[in-house]
Amino acid sequence: MKFSNTIATAAVAATCLMAQPALAADEPKGNVEAAKAKVSMCIGCHSIPGYKASFPEVYSVPKIAGQNDKYLQVALRAYASGERTHPTMDVIAKSLSAQDIADLAAYYSSLK
Ligand code: HEC
Repeated sequence: MKFSNTIATAAVAATCLMAQPALAADEPKGNVEAAKAKVSMCIGCHSIPGYKASFPEVYSVPKIAGQNDKYLQVALRAYASGERTHPTMDVIAKSLSAQDIADLAAYYSSLK
């Protein structure tokens, strides 16, 4: 029966889509303590409420403290890969290792 095959295929596809955001087993695990030595490069922009950086143009800096762990990792990888672009965040994200990203995401998501 063609119809039920289509449903089965759709169900499998949906399962794969839902499974995707989960981190693969070999992804580094975030370490909040290790991140404390790394946040000095983020604090200048991200910990000032309502801060607006003015170079190379005026832009608002999003609040990342308390943000979801996965969201932060996805955002940092997107800047690093060029999928998402921003003059300063691109440079910063490209300088981070996979472990740095995991640590920083764990740290910022642990803040209130
Ligand atoms: C020079 C200022 C500056 C520094 C330093 C900086 N950021 Fe950012 N960051 C920004 C700005 C501005 C944005 C918003 C860019 C955009 O609109 O895409 C941003 C965006 C982000 C985002 C995405 C937030 C969201 O809501 O989507 C994350 C995550 C992030 N930064 C993490 C970090 C981390 C971690 C560090 C330190 C390793 C860091 N940033 C250092 C200015 C900075």
